[in-house]
Amino acid sequence: MTTFPGAETSRVPRDGLPWTPGAQPLMLAPMQGITNRALRRLFVEWVRPDVVFTEFVRVRRGSRRGLSAADRDEVADEPGGIPLVVQLIGVDAGALVAAAQGAQEAGARHLNLNVGCPYGYGRMTPGSSGGALLGAPEALPSILRALRGAVTGGFSVKVRAGYEDPRQILSLLPLFEGEGVDFLVLHPRTVRQGYAGQPDHALTAEVVGATRLPVIANGDIVTAEEGRGVLAQTGAAGLMLGRGAVSDPRLFERLRGRAPARPTPEGRSRELGRYLRALVERYRNLFCGEDQVLYKLKEVVRHVPDPELADVFRDLKRCRTLSAFLGHLRQLESGAQQKSP
Ligand SMILES: Cc1cc2nc3c(=O)[nH]c(=O)nc-3n(C[C@H](O)[C@H](O)[C@H](O)COP(=O)(O)O)c2cc1C
Repeated sequence: MTTFPGAETSRVPRDGLPWTPGAQPLMLAPMQGITNRALRRLFVEWVRPDVVFTEFVRVRRGSRRGLSAADRDEVADEPGGIPLVVQLIGVDAGALVAAAQGAQEAGARHLNLNVGCPYGYGRMTPGSSGGALLGAPEALPSILRALRGAVTGGFSVKVRAGYEDPRQILSLLPLFEGEGVDFLVLHPRTVRQGYAGQPDHALTAEVVGATRLPVIANGDIVTAEEGRGVLAQTGAAGLMLGRGAVSDPRLFERLRGRAPARPTPEGRSRELGRYLRALVERYRNLFCGEDQVLYKLKEVVRHVPDPELADVFRDLKRCRTLSAFLGHLRQLESGAQQKSP
């Protein structure tokens, strides 16, 4: 069985990596709207991912202002000694460099460029950034070179398989290697695909074999068995967990063999209740006003697809007040899975 050494042995960054080489890190994925510093701290305290990522930090074209005060608070937060990777999304090399320098001045040690977000042309993200960079890859060399020159610690790229061509990634590997990228995180779907279909972890295996860079495998890992399977299939240097972790924080512990591979239905209900209640408390401290706290909690709840608890999750998504939300949480915490009226 694959063993995951866990945070104790993987805290010391070396050679630009936020983990000890060979330690098979389990990383918490960047998730815009979700993996804010309150949620990251909860994960660090409860299940100690080996590496955590910020949500993407938007870097607007033409901006030379570095980071906003709010972004500086996010990127400086490295609780419990767990390495934090700060992710930037943007397309303007000068602005990205200014943001990277601002992040480093605020204490960031590891920077990552988003080359995967499928909403790179929209209101959410600046210019043709994120996954849209794969649609115009001629912009990538100067961006990578500028960032590599500015980043004093680790510099990584989180990338999709391609824009339309699921094998595009293979043609980009010499570029990533040549421009001094330290590691890659690969979500093996195309940008056009969004979240449809399945991630192609056979492609991840091919990429692992085709590059000397460490590759972190990401995509649709929601159980310990799947995580171990992806690692065995791909030979990846580690795993990144997104939606699976947000809907089951103990997935980290399950993968390390420190929690049952699957919880009982009652145990799952209690765990989710405890997790969401802890988030309520932390979100009250981070966000302003009950409406925003409720909105942010619902962002998490949206990513808990659990057919056995569908009724209570439907109620949590619909409720209009935090006190109603807390009322539904009690049902989860009791471990009962009765249908709501
Ligand atoms: C709501 C949401 C927000 C996301 N935000 C980001 C982000 O800020 N940066 C990024 O690189 N990827 C982002 N992603 C992609 C995830 O990091 C991850 O690559 C993807 O969800 C596949 O992994 P998973 O199946 O483990 O969730 C986001 C995904 C979702 C569902």
